[in-house]
Amino acid sequence: MAQEDVFKKIVSHCKEYGFVFPSSDIYDGLGAVYDYGQNGVELKNNIKQYWWQSMVLLHENIVGIDAAIFMHPTVWKASGHVDAFNDPLIDNRDSKKRYRADVLIEDQLAKIEEKINKEVAKAQKRFGDAFDEAQFRATNGRVLEHQAKFDALHERYSKAMNDMDLAELKQIILDEEIVCPISGTRNWTDVRQFNLMFKTEMGSTADGASTVYLRPETAQGIFVNYLNVQKTGRMKIPFGIAQIGKAFRNEIVARQFIFRMREFEQMEMQFFVKPGTELDWFTQWKQHRRAWHEALGFGSENYRYHDHEKLAHYANAATDIEFKMPFGFKEVEGIHSRTNFDLSQHAKYSGRKIEYFDPETNESYTPYVIETSIGVDRMFLSVMCHSYQEEKLEGGETRVVLKLPAALAPVKLAVLPLVKKDGLPEKAHEIMNDLKFHFNCKYEEKDSIGKRYRRQDAIGTPYCITVDHDTLTDNCVTLRDRDTMEQTRVPISELRALIEDKVSITSLLKKLQ
Ligand code: GAP
Repeated sequence: MAQEDVFKKIVSHCKEYGFVFPSSDIYDGLGAVYDYGQNGVELKNNIKQYWWQSMVLLHENIVGIDAAIFMHPTVWKASGHVDAFNDPLIDNRDSKKRYRADVLIEDQLAKIEEKINKEVAKAQKRFGDAFDEAQFRATNGRVLEHQAKFDALHERYSKAMNDMDLAELKQIILDEEIVCPISGTRNWTDVRQFNLMFKTEMGSTADGASTVYLRPETAQGIFVNYLNVQKTGRMKIPFGIAQIGKAFRNEIVARQFIFRMREFEQMEMQFFVKPGTELDWFTQWKQHRRAWHEALGFGSENYRYHDHEKLAHYANAATDIEFKMPFGFKEVEGIHSRTNFDLSQHAKYSGRKIEYFDPETNESYTPYVIETSIGVDRMFLSVMCHSYQEEKLEGGETRVVLKLPAALAPVKLAVLPLVKKDGLPEKAHEIMNDLKFHFNCKYEEKDSIGKRYRRQDAIGTPYCITVDHDTLTDNCVTLRDRDTMEQTRVPISELRALIEDKVSITSLLKKLQ
């Protein structure tokens, strides 16, 4: 099945099974804003818990905060967001549709790459096992031609973006004969800068109201609380502050479901270090964060680092952790060495001394910062994409199963009485009432057992138990494993011990030690 179709199926599965709904669905939705349903919120909370505990429980020198979304407007002047948090936009005069100029060009680059991949796939089919891909890419005429075109365009585009040369971005769009996907025309406006921050007003009277922004990243809430936390927590460098919270960006192009949203959630950690040690810490956090992803068991081949060649003016190293989505390798997390830029800027704009006094060396300095920044929603999407599977069963039937890591699954155990009578529902409730204190259980009595198993497979429930007539006398139930579909008879008294360990966040955290 084409990857595009797989992705469409994942999106509709998310809606059908209560994971993600379009916001204000009965009014036909709101662009790039989504609501999490009854199963989605559980999965999302489990992802957040895994991240939070890996930071705050496993590191003695990392503490958490929860800063407000509204911040003093000068914060965003100091951070550079008011002046520079822009995307280049372009309009098509015929369709009246707005696009990001950089995305139009990147799509063009992707098209060339696709042509190369098609040539490679064709040759692979022709030559079979004897195929040497590296040699083919280095010698095939058509591939070399496409590659040269790709490289030239990439170089021109990178330069235009680095210089923020808006006229050159438009010229590239014209030279490449890029058309509007809606109108099919090349009737483009000039490229303009568009600030991504949402503005609103604070204060009740028009005169007294001041413009405030919805934060576009949670990080600034950490920077402005550096002194508060360091002093009240008696924190010694190196130390970190972690936070999970909403962020807002008025994205021009809303695409790929929850990959790029206007309201989303971030999990960010700023790690404050002594100047000169930051690159060592950067390397360590790069590895830590990759290990966190890989502990989920999705296979290391599905991750890659993308080191930034061109760095923001305040950064001295940056990398993305990318995950293989159905639409290619995409950034899920960024790790940035941000020097002392943010703290110095806030010191300058607030007039406060924002430093650290090192009692061992008797010197004061502005700490350097390593930031790890991951989007909860992108992480959610990567988990869904990897877990969604359609399995052909022996009888020719297809089962849709979400092979979620058990620790992230919304429901851990489904409790199913075989029939709705003969005291089986009562027995099932008795088991459920005991286990519900330890992990999330769901009781279901409607439809055949087969249909109930399928519904649980579709939401990723790792275990189901069936309560039958024998249960009333032998106090045993049938335990079914989601992935193997194997069924075993187990005593009710052993259920908790059998399941709890495998479905707890602790089981993931232990892999990180
Ligand atoms: N404080 C640094 C920062 O915000 P970023 O690369 O702009 O860096 C970090 O964002 C992460 O936040 C991204 O790797 C991505 O997972 C997530 N993210 C950013 N914009 C997003 C959007 N519009 N929708 C969903 N997630 C987004």
